[in-house]
Parts: sequence; C-alpha cells; structure tokens
Amino acid sequence: MAKPHLAVIVGSNRRESINRKLAHAIAKLGEDEFDASFVRIDDLPMFNQDHEGNPPAEVVRFKNELARADGILFVTPEHDRSIPALLKNAVDWGARPYGKNSWTGKPAFITGTSPGAIGSALAQQHLRSVMTGLGMILLGGESYISFKPNLVDDHGNITDESTRKFLRSFLDRFASLVVRLSQPAPSPA
Ligand SMILES: Cc1cc2nc3c(=O)[nH]c(=O)nc-3n(C[C@H](O)[C@H](O)[C@H](O)COP(=O)(O)O)c2cc1C
Repeated sequence: MAKPHLAVIVGSNRRESINRKLAHAIAKLGEDEFDASFVRIDDLPMFNQDHEGNPPAEVVRFKNELARADGILFVTPEHDRSIPALLKNAVDWGARPYGKNSWTGKPAFITGTSPGAIGSALAQQHLRSVMTGLGMILLGGESYISFKPNLVDDHGNITDESTRKFLRSFLDRFASLVVRLSQPAPSPA
C-alpha cells in the first residue's frame, strides 16, 4: 500500500531557518511512514479578498497541493508570541473562498522550534486555535522544541536521542491518525 502523502508547511522564509532544518529532519525521521513533500508559501501574494474568487496561479498551486495531502505537518517559528505573518497569509488563502476551505477535515501535526526556552509554544497554541476553527483534525499533545545549534547534524538527523524519540512518538501517532481517517467509516449496526 502506498504511504500516506504528507504536505510539510514551514512558517519561515529565512534562508537558514531552524524550523526548515527541523522540518527536514522530521520528514527524514518519518520517511518509512510518510511520503513527504514541502509546500511553498513564500511566493503567495498578500491575501486580498478581491482575488479569492479568481486567485493567482501560486494560490491555485498551493490549494491543489493541500488537496492531495493525506496529512499536513506545520513547523512554525514564533514571531512576537504568535504565528508568523507568512504562515497566517497561507492559512487565509487556504481557507477561502467560502465553501472551498482546503483545511477542513485534514489531519495536522503542529510543531515548531525557537532558540528560546518555550520553543514556539505560543505560536503553536495560536495556530491550533486558528486551525481548529477551520475544521482541521489536530494531533493531540504539545511538541515545543527548543533549538540548540547542533540539534540537527549536517546529514539532517536529530542528534539528541530524547528529542528523536519524542518526535518519533508524535510521528507514529500521526501516522495512525492519518490511516484511520483515510478508512471508510464503519456502517451503523
Ligand atoms: C519578528 C520576530 C519576532 C520574534 N519573536 C519571537 C518570539 O515571540 N518568541 C521566540 O521564541 N522567538 C522569537 N523570535 C526569534 C525566532 O525564534 C528566531 O528568529 C528563529 O530563528 C525563527 O525561526 P526560523 O529560523 O525558522 O525563521 C522572533 C524573531 C523575529 C524575526
């Protein structure tokens, strides 16, 4: 059976983004369970409701990529104790137009990292609130990763064993959630 398709969304457009590094490491850690691809959001124009009915090509591509995903992994930085504007912009395009919300019913695993002690916790909490409102099915638990310079090695592996095990347990639970949701609901007895 084909592996579920995981769309990875990184909430940073910084060249040396630690969240992108972590996202690649998580995708590598979960490569036996998921077939992952990274979804670009840094080329999406600023959301404008005037264009939601006839969106630019980049938005059409973005929404098509969401449509074919079995599950979505968000790896987000925290900006001023919230979601980076780059990511919120992508969320808004995905949610519109009314009746064509690309997020509804999709399972998501939210994580993120920052060099600070609380590892993007407030951004993740805000994102959880927004995505719950949009009808996503969120993996339970909290995965706040405090980034250290050598957390991910040059081969894209997570060097710290306890962080690796911690993230693996999330990936395992997420894989079962995605598989469960992709199965047809049992008919009522
Ligand atoms: C505009 C801005 C706001 C930030 N606010 C926070 C914050 O609220 N909490 C935090 O832990 N780090 C904050 N940081 C630091 C980021 O965690 C750090 O820049 C990190 O590298 C961003 O992730 P990235 O490398 O994936 O872009 C902020 C950085 C920027 C540029």
